[in-house]
Amino acid sequence: MKTILIAYATKTGTTEETAREIASTLEERGFQVEVKPMAQVASLDGWDGVVIGAPVNGMDWLPEAASFVASRKSGLAGTRVAVFFVSYLYFGGRTMWRKAIEKKLAMAAATAGASASVVLGGRLPGPLPGFARILFGKPKDAPLDARDHGVTREWAASLAALFA
Ligand SMILES: Cc1cc2nc3c(=O)[nH]c(=O)nc-3n(C[C@H](O)[C@H](O)[C@H](O)COP(=O)(O)O)c2cc1C
Repeated sequence: MKTILIAYATKTGTTEETAREIASTLEERGFQVEVKPMAQVASLDGWDGVVIGAPVNGMDWLPEAASFVASRKSGLAGTRVAVFFVSYLYFGGRTMWRKAIEKKLAMAAATAGASASVVLGGRLPGPLPGFARILFGKPKDAPLDARDHGVTREWAASLAALFA
């Protein structure tokens, strides 16, 4: 059985939930999957694939994730890698922020040597303050939860081909 590690970082729990959704889709397709906070990942040896996920804070993924990828480059080079960002403002905000996040995702994916990468929806615990809505171009009535579970599962299913 092929084994997949999903290493995540999170501040408020969304990325862990998304990691578990990705895991269950891969498990349905016959993979053995372990979901772990990246701080607890001892070794990258022996996995058939590694998925790395973290939220976007300050228009980049968490520094913890950037450090993880930078310090594990040789381990990542020995396996197939996929990267996901979890972002609230990517969806329905200004194009300039969307482009900024895409640029950071491309950089993260290149550093990790990832063959697949995606931005998935995040959520907020409460409404954005007015100034932030204007800055980021989010309408007042935008839902606080930008996750799309169908998109998450579709992306996870596409990884099955990558890791097969
Ligand atoms: C302090 C803070 C900063 C954030 N900055 C951004 C940001 O720059 N861009 C963005 O798209 N979302 C931003 N968000 C929204 C998060 O991406 C979203 O809440 C996500 O679901 C958080 O994932 P987590 O629960 O795994 O920490 C921010 C959230 C917080 C709490």
